[in-house]
Amino acid sequence: MRILVLGSGAREHAIITSLLRENEGASGAGHEITAAPGNAGIAAVVPVVALDPTRADVVTNYAIDNDIELVVIGPEAPLVAGVADSLRQRGIAVFGPGKAAAAIEGSKTFAKRIMDEAGVPTGRATRAGTIDEAIEAIDEYGAPYVVKADGLAAGKGVLVTPDRDAAIAHADFWLAQGAVLVEEFLAGQEVSLFLLSDGHTVLPLSPAQDYKRVFDGDDGPNTGGMGAYSPLPWLPEGFVDEVIDTIAIPTVRQLAKERTPFIGLLYCGLIVTTKGVRVIEFNARFGDPETQVVLPRLVTPLSGLLFAAATGELGTHPRPEFSDEVAVTVVLASEGYPDEPITGRAITGLDEVTDVTVAHAATAQVDGQYVATGGRVLSVVATGTDFADARARVYRALDTIRLDGGHYRTDIAQRVAE
Ligand code: AMP
Ligand code: GLY
Repeated sequence: MRILVLGSGAREHAIITSLLRENEGASGAGHEITAAPGNAGIAAVVPVVALDPTRADVVTNYAIDNDIELVVIGPEAPLVAGVADSLRQRGIAVFGPGKAAAAIEGSKTFAKRIMDEAGVPTGRATRAGTIDEAIEAIDEYGAPYVVKADGLAAGKGVLVTPDRDAAIAHADFWLAQGAVLVEEFLAGQEVSLFLLSDGHTVLPLSPAQDYKRVFDGDDGPNTGGMGAYSPLPWLPEGFVDEVIDTIAIPTVRQLAKERTPFIGLLYCGLIVTTKGVRVIEFNARFGDPETQVVLPRLVTPLSGLLFAAATGELGTHPRPEFSDEVAVTVVLASEGYPDEPITGRAITGLDEVTDVTVAHAATAQVDGQYVATGGRVLSVVATGTDFADARARVYRALDTIRLDGGHYRTDIAQRVAE
């Protein structure tokens, strides 16, 4: 298949690595994969094209001119910009929802409304358009306070804090750009569950856990994600089926009913509370870094799953199978991330690591040398028979890789390795 992958992060590198694995061996699938715009790590394995993935016209023309049979949209920005709608209008199979359905990620109030209509369990929330409304809701729900920007905020829109003044300041800051949501605080373990959807039916991937805070012990500000592991041995039996029945199917049905079918990856961000599972957020795409631990464990060919979702054929596709191996990833971030990452610094030692895979998140090649171009730079991944073994290999690799001022969490997957 001729496949175009849009995006430039470690998630897209991991998706491409999985697709390329299907090409291996005598009976290889022979996929021709291109990435746009990609990064230096992606460019080392497939051709990359320097086009803006959020430009619907540019992407669509490229796909037509190059006989692309499947477009896989990695990040949220092209989805919210309507790139999937434009491709679909031209009859091109695309894995990723249209603009209207992508609002499930792009607008937290839209997501809450869909959940209300569909009867999906989630925390109570109040939409505030003025600071007075926000303060009233903050005092109603009490500490710890949860205040969220309504729109896309690149991971920076959410504040969870015991400090009332900080909660009010956060609301004040984001009200300048639109509404905010004040939410009930939900306590419990977080789970990221990815479901492939063809607009009618869903198939689950294996659950993962992400580490959102920047420092060890879940300290410091929220980030895009500092590490992840999969599977989650502590989940109760039947958990995935419960999420399918009570969350994913009702949500997908509601979106179909509203004539905005969700075709792509429904990312359920969940909290397992003492009262049951609750949705904290939906995303309209694969999570990063969770993808880096879910896909290496996927035994079923990824291309077949994505194509079946894109073409409305998931109903006849068997449930994806996963290996018994575990996977751990740890993100290496630039100095200053998440506030003001310092970029442009050299990354060395990459050719000295052997028993891990390195998904590039934000890298470029300058004069034959890898340099960091963003906050999250690399995602180092190990699979293994147990978490202790996979962790040891990831952290050994991170000892070898050098990036001045670079930092990473040292406690990823610790709780399952002991
Ligand atoms: P979100 O972008 O909505 O996923 O929020 C980012 C992170 O903030 C989540 O992964 C949680 O760790 C935390 N968070 C968000 N909403 C809540 C909530 N209602 N209760 C507790 N923690 C939350
Ligand atoms: N790791 C969280 C996300 O992808 O949104």
